[in-house]
Amino acid sequence: MEYRRLGKSGLQVSAFSFGSWVTFAKQVDVGPAKEIMAAAYDAGVNFFDNAEGYEQGGSELVMGQAIAELGWSRDSYIVSSKVFWGGAKPTQRGLSAKHVTEACHAALKRLRVDHLDLYFCHRPDVDTPIEETVRAMHNLIVQGKVLYWGTSEWSGQQITEAHLVARANGLTPPTMEQPQYNLFERHKVEADYLPVYDTFGLGTTIWSPLASGLLTGKYNDGVPQDSRMNLPGYEWLREMLESDAGRAKLAKIKALAALADAAGLSVTHMALLWCLANPRVSTVILGASRLSQLTDNLAALEQKAKLTPEVMAGIEAIMANKPAGPQRF
Ligand SMILES: NC(=O)c1ccc[n+]([C@@H]2O[C@H](COP(=O)([O-])OP(=O)(O)OC[C@H]3O[C@@H](n4cnc5c(N)ncnc54)[C@H](OP(=O)(O)O)[C@@H]3O)[C@@H](O)[C@H]2O)c1
Repeated sequence: MEYRRLGKSGLQVSAFSFGSWVTFAKQVDVGPAKEIMAAAYDAGVNFFDNAEGYEQGGSELVMGQAIAELGWSRDSYIVSSKVFWGGAKPTQRGLSAKHVTEACHAALKRLRVDHLDLYFCHRPDVDTPIEETVRAMHNLIVQGKVLYWGTSEWSGQQITEAHLVARANGLTPPTMEQPQYNLFERHKVEADYLPVYDTFGLGTTIWSPLASGLLTGKYNDGVPQDSRMNLPGYEWLREMLESDAGRAKLAKIKALAALADAAGLSVTHMALLWCLANPRVSTVILGASRLSQLTDNLAALEQKAKLTPEVMAGIEAIMANKPAGPQRF
C-alpha cells in the first residue's frame, strides 16, 4: 500500500481507503462487513469512511461493531463521520453549531470510538453562517472529539471563506475536502480547487471512483439483478443510467474497455488508477458490496505501470472532458 499526506497535515492516509455508503446496513450486515474491512486493513488500508446519513446511522452502527469485534488498535486506523443529513426535524440537519455538535456525539457512540479522526460537513449549508460551523468544528477539536475537520462538495470559494474566517478568529481551518472524482466528474478536483490546493494545503478524499460501479463495465448490457442500480431507494441512480446522458456514458465505457484491454488492464483497474494518478488526490475511497470486489479493486495497485502516458492520452481522447484550467498569461 502507498500512503499519502492528507493535504499539508501530518496524517498519512492509504492511497486506497474504504467507505460504506449504500453497502453497510443495506446490502451487508456485520459478518460480511467485518470480512471486507479485515481484508482492507490487512492490505494496508487505514481509512474507513462513514456518515450520519448512511442508512440513518445504521452504517456507522455496523462499522462500529465490526471495528470493536476486529479488535484493532485505535492508533492503527482512521475513521470518519459526516454531518448534514441527521433526521427530518430542522434541528437534526444542516451545519448549525447545535447539529454539528450533537451529530458528532451521536457518531462517536455509534462508531464506539472516543474521537473521530476526520469529520466532514457533508454539504454546504446556505442557512448557516460559515463562521458558526467553523467555530463548532474548532470547539470539537479543542475538546479532543475530532482531530481534523473538512468539507464535502463545497466550492473552492466556500472553502476559502472557511479558511479566512478561521484565520481572522484564531480557529482551526478545514484540512480536507471530499469531492466526487471519477472519469465523468472532474470539474471540482481539476479546476475549481486549483486556487485552493497550494494556498491552504487542501487534501482530498475522493468518492465514487467507479461512478457507483458504472466504470466496471457491468452495466454495459443492462442492469444486473444484484447491483446498486437495482436496489430499492436508488431508483434515481437507475434513472440517470437510463437517460440519454447515461447511455452516452455507457458508450464511453465500452471505448474505455477496449483501450484497457489493449493495455492489459481491466476497465475497473484503469478507472481506479486514473484517479490515483492525480497527485491532488490524497486517497481514493473504494466501495464494495462483497469481498471479491474489494480484492479486485485493491489489485489495481499491482497494475500501476500499465497506466502509461500513452494510455492516459488515450483516455483523454475518449473522454474529451478535461476541464479548462485557469488562464495564465
Ligand atoms: N461525500 C459524499 O457525498 C459521498 C457520496 C458518495 C460516496 N461517498 C463515499 O465514497 C465511498 C465510495 O463511493 P461508491 O461506493 O459510490 O464507490 P464506487 O467505487 O463508485 O462504487 C462502488 C460500488 O460499485 C460496485 N463495485 C465496486 N467494485 C466492483 C468490482 N470490482 N466489480 C463489480 N462491481 C463493483 C459495488 O456495487 P454493487 O455490487 O452494489 O453493484 C460497489 O458498492 C462511499 O462508500 C462513501 O464512503 C461519499
